[in-house]
Amino acid sequence: MSQGAPIGVFDSGHGGLTILGALSQRLPWEHFLYLGDHAAAPYGERTPREIYARTQAAVELLFALNCRLVLLACNTATAVALRRLQQGWLARHYPDRRVLGVLAPMVEALSGKSWTGSQPLRGALARRQAAKSVAVFATRRTVESGAYPREVVARAPAVLIDQEACPGLAGAIERDLPDSALAAMIESATSTLLTRHPDAPPEAAVLGCTHFPLVAGHFKAALPPSTRLLSQPQVVAEALQGYLARHPDLSSGPGETRYLTTGRPALVSQLATRFLGGPVRFTAVP
Ligand code: DGL
Repeated sequence: MSQGAPIGVFDSGHGGLTILGALSQRLPWEHFLYLGDHAAAPYGERTPREIYARTQAAVELLFALNCRLVLLACNTATAVALRRLQQGWLARHYPDRRVLGVLAPMVEALSGKSWTGSQPLRGALARRQAAKSVAVFATRRTVESGAYPREVVARAPAVLIDQEACPGLAGAIERDLPDSALAAMIESATSTLLTRHPDAPPEAAVLGCTHFPLVAGHFKAALPPSTRLLSQPQVVAEALQGYLARHPDLSSGPGETRYLTTGRPALVSQLATRFLGGPVRFTAVP
């Protein structure tokens, strides 16, 4: 029925490409329409009002381009805007469309409980061993929203969550700053968090910004070897696979994945190609 309608994937900039990569690998029979709001990135330092307005506009654009399901592949947009979008706006204006985010799958993975509490977790999510202490590295707005600790602790009160904002890091990744500068920012955030836990470093860490997997190597180097990194792209891809199995009418069917940007397509394509190690061609939003 919905054959041909792509699944929309939205981020402030390049970050969502880390999620899209995992989606394309796990769901090669689906096709996606990626939208990066590069003209306004980074979102992490913007006001919640701006983030909401831009996210809503992006979702509307993807709906206008025929998407019936949109994934906010951005923790900041998810933490700040998703609930409000889902609770009022979507039902009023687009009752047959769906918007999902990247937070719920991570909360399920960290708490070992399903988001709604109504179904047991399945697959690798159910088999994954829950960590007792977790560090979350994210943008300032995601940290300020309190979404990660609030939602995890509501489902698994024994899990200790500590978070540290990495102000400027997503922007530095967008601007392709030298590796040494990125490593220094990461070192500063990780050591600030680790000093709060001198005797027991966190068992697991979440890169709660979809840009950060692009510099995961620096996080790994800065964290103790005993702290395992939970891969948000993998967790989200697995969750979307489960969602589409439960809602087959929202599956896109095969087709070519396309990339749109509100920024400058040539520059964005060049940077994205370098990050992903393969050619990516962005075109301007219509
Ligand atoms: N990649 C986004 C996130 O997951 C936003 C980063 C930003 O634009 O500040 O939070």
